Order: sequence, then C-alpha cells, then structure tokens
Amino acid sequence: MNSAPSSVNTFMDTGLPLFAGLSHKVADLSEANVRFGRKELDLALVEMPGLAALREEYYGQKPLAGAKIMGSLHMTIQTGVLIETLVELGADVRWVSCNIFSTQDHAAAATYIGPEGTIDNPAGVPVYAWKGETLAEYWWCTLQALLWDDGTGPNLILDDGGDATMLVLMGHEYEVSGTIPDPSTAESEEFCVVLNLLHAVREAKGDKFFTEMAKGIRGVSEETTTGVHRLYERVEAGTLLFPAINVNDSVTKSKFDNVYGCRHSLVDAIMRATDVLIAGKRALVLGYGDVGKGSVQSLSGQSAKVSITEIDPICALQASMMGYDVVRIEDVVSKMDIFVTATGNKDIITSQHMASMKHNAIVCNIGHFDNEIDIAGLETMRLNGEVEKIEIKPQVHEWRFTKTTHGPNGTGHSIIILAEGRLVNLGCATGHPSLVMSASFTNQTIAQIELHLRAEDYGVNPLANPEANKPPQVITLPKHLDEKVALLHLKKFDVNLTELTAEQAAYIGVDASGPYKPHHYRY
Ligand SMILES: NC(=O)c1ccc[n+]([C@@H]2O[C@H](COP(=O)([O-])OP(=O)(O)OC[C@H]3O[C@@H](n4cnc5c(N)ncnc54)[C@H](O)[C@@H]3O)[C@@H](O)[C@H]2O)c1
Repeated sequence: MNSAPSSVNTFMDTGLPLFAGLSHKVADLSEANVRFGRKELDLALVEMPGLAALREEYYGQKPLAGAKIMGSLHMTIQTGVLIETLVELGADVRWVSCNIFSTQDHAAAATYIGPEGTIDNPAGVPVYAWKGETLAEYWWCTLQALLWDDGTGPNLILDDGGDATMLVLMGHEYEVSGTIPDPSTAESEEFCVVLNLLHAVREAKGDKFFTEMAKGIRGVSEETTTGVHRLYERVEAGTLLFPAINVNDSVTKSKFDNVYGCRHSLVDAIMRATDVLIAGKRALVLGYGDVGKGSVQSLSGQSAKVSITEIDPICALQASMMGYDVVRIEDVVSKMDIFVTATGNKDIITSQHMASMKHNAIVCNIGHFDNEIDIAGLETMRLNGEVEKIEIKPQVHEWRFTKTTHGPNGTGHSIIILAEGRLVNLGCATGHPSLVMSASFTNQTIAQIELHLRAEDYGVNPLANPEANKPPQVITLPKHLDEKVALLHLKKFDVNLTELTAEQAAYIGVDASGPYKPHHYRY
C-alpha cells in the first residue's frame, strides 16, 4: 500500500493524516495486479452492454463535463467499468468502497491507473479502497474521496447505502447545532468512528467544513433499498438538502440486481467461503423481499430445503405460493444448517439464537450493514468469555461457544459466520455478475446525467439558494428510461421483441413505442 506523508495529525489508529492529500490509496499497484484488473475490466465491458451503449450514444459529447462526482459504492470490476464510463462522459470522479470487505484490489488498482495510464504515470481516478479496511480506515477513505485537491467538494454524489450522503448531511447538522456528541455515547462501534471523524474535522478545519461542502452538492443518486429508505426519512423530516434519484426502484435495478444478482452471488459466496455441500441442507432465508427472493432461488437451485421468515403477509403468501415453509426463527433455529438474513432490518438473528444453533451452522447476511446478525452481541459474549472467535481465513470465522453442551462430545458448539455479518456476496465472493450490474449502472449513469443537467427541476439546495423555496425531492427515473435500460440489454440475450401494431397499441391504450405499462405496474 502506498504510504502517507508523515504528519503528526493522524486519524484514530489508521496512521494516516486526516487530510492526507494522497492521490489514491489502494492495496497493490504491482504490474501483475494492475494487468489483471485491466484484463477483467476489458472482459466486463463486453458483458455490460448498457454502459457500452451509453458510451457509444454520447461519443464525442461530454454530457457530464463539469460534474464532480464522489462515488461511494463497492470498488469491484463492474464499478470500475461504471467509473470509466462516467469519466468518458466527461465527469471528474473520486471513489471509495461502501463496504470494508467488498473491494477487489485488482479493480481498485486498475481503475486508479486508468485505461491509458501506466504505473509510473497513472491516468485513472483517485481511488481510496482496499479489501479488509478497518472502520477507521473506511471513514478516512470516505473523507478523502469527498475532498478535491483544490479543497472543494463534489457537486454530485453517487451513493450505495447512504454513508457519503449521511456524513456530509450529519456533519452539516452538527455544525449548525454547534455540538457533536461525545463518541463514547455512540450506540455502535461504527457510529463512534463517525463521531471521532467529525470531531477531528472540526478541530482541523473549524465548523463550516461540511456546511460549505453540502452547499456545493446539487444531487445524489442512491443505489440500494436501505440508502433510499434513509433519503425518504430525510424528506419526511425536511432535512434533505439536495434532490435524489432513487435508482434502486427503477424496475431494471431492484427487480434484476436485487433478485438475479443475489441468485448468482449468494451460493457463490457460501461455496467460496466454506466449500460445503448445499444440496439437501436446511436453509433459512430471513426476509422474502427482492433480495430474499433471489437468495431463495440461489439456495433452491442447489437443492437446499429452504424455509423463510417474514413479517409481511403479502411476502409470506408469495413464499407459500412458491412452496416454501414460512416459519419463525425461534421454532427452527436448532434444525437449520444455513441462515441468510435479507431484511434490511436489525436484530434478525440474535446472539441467543446463535447460542441455540446446530454445530457448525453457517450464518451470513446479504441485506445491509452488520446488524441484521447481532455481531455486537457476540462480541460482548466474547469479552465475557462465553464465546471464542477463531479465524479460519479472512472473512470466515468460527465462533465457538464455551458454555453450551450441544457441540461434539457434549462440549460447546461452533457456528461459522461469513464476512463478519456484512454483505456476504461482496465479502466472500465478487458481488453480482457484470450483466446484472450493467442494468443497475446504466440506471446510475442516466441518473447522474439527469442530475447534472437539471437537478434543480427536482428541488433546490437551500444552502446554495435560500430564496428558492423548492424542497428537494426523491424521484425515480421515468418508465421510458427504465424500458430503455432493458432494451439495451436484449441483444446480449438474442431477444426478438414483438412489435405492437397501431391497432393493438390503441386497443390496450399505450403508445406503440412505449412506455408499455403504467407507472404503478409492479412486474
Ligand atoms: N447484497 C446485495 O448485493 C444487495 C443487493 C440489493 C440490496 N441489498 C440490501 O438488501 C436489503 C433488502 O433489500 P430488498 O430490496 O430485498 O428489500 P425489500 O424491502 O424488498 O425486502 C426486505 C424484506 O424483509 C422483510 N422483513 C423486514 N423485517 C423483517 C423481520 N424482522 N423478519 C423477517 N422479515 C423481515 C420485509 O417485510 C421485506 O419483505 C436492503 O438492506 C438492501 O439495501 C443487498
């Protein structure tokens, strides 16, 4: 990893100056790693026809010229293709991963070097990401990507899960209120790091830093369910400062990425992590939304015996119609071999549940963050000597219970936790395949162009223009763009669409060239 210039003012235990002024920070800039990344980027582009089509459509034009995009989204090969598409369309981009385990180090290296650059003369974008960051390093990376060399911030954010948006907005709110809570009062280890960062920034830069940054931001496009949820909460509370495009709820995102991406990447992750036979095992998927549906298909495809848990009667009924048992975790916890959380909610698998599980049950999360599984509770048990944590390999841990008696020979049982309770498909495998991500990232690129060209149509940042009185909204892309994203991917599957005749179009009340469904249609 490239080293930071020496400075006394380092952030927490990172050894890195808070405002490091580094051009990048990635794990491995060796020739072999950069070459591997570039080869994979080249292969991925062929599997990402939506992004390739946008590059072609805007060839010679620069619709994103003047856009300063800060991206916080898993630094994978597919994201590398997205970044290079944004750059080709004229954007000035800086990037971090949105997860401490999801970076593919060869993707980070090749994206920093760029398609035309060399190791001696890098020509890509500033990337701050490596696999296996600590939480302090993760939030340090986020700060670096938010700050351009001239001391200014982004005018657009491309977010996944809402961490970058939250840091800027929360930083601004604490600057206005004048007090930042004491980190020792934080409800989680991660929030403690965030508060430490905010204190450190205030000490170094005074109490206008995030307010100035927030003032310059015109919009954000958000990738995922949980991030979108946070944005709508801010609209309700009147605290969203810039308009947002909810990319997740484009049909060609959530009904594809969340479902078919997880269908591919869940078992990929479990197999890479454990190599255990999935066929015939009992698996419990907690949450039967989009991600849950894909996860269930993934496990069923391997002939696991799948049950689900749900709180929503509609989703529970859907699961029943597909032939799955809908159960409560407490009734089946001791019988299951594999547990997968997919709710976007917290406290789904508690430490008490884990204390009752079968010996060597596999426990993982494909939803969000690390609190669907009570990792913090396990950590407390570890400090009390009730459980031991043993690393099998990075992102695969045996947690051995010392006080239970249903393990081998009446001793303590173990469970195997993947990716420390964070997104398993990105921590233990390489996330969704390129073709699926192409649909998501085509939506992201279209959203960024839309915001760059006319963000103020969807609301005006009150810090930038207090007179405007046009509260920022969260919008989804219109149906015809969703259909366009799908259309761009059909050729890859050798699809021949039937064309409507004028009479047929009139009969069902649509335009022959689309949109083909009303906005409320659910697919
Ligand atoms: N790992 C990935 O690659 C990936 C991809 C897309 C989304 N996500 C994340 O996955 C999570 C789920 O996304 P989604 O699009 O499926 O959301 P969703 O809202 O469609 O599904 C979540 C489901 O969980 C259910 N649920 C909530 N609380 C529950 C509880 N206590 N017990 C049982 N079920 C409960 C809800 O009723 C809902 O049906 C989000 O956090 C999202 O950000 C992950």
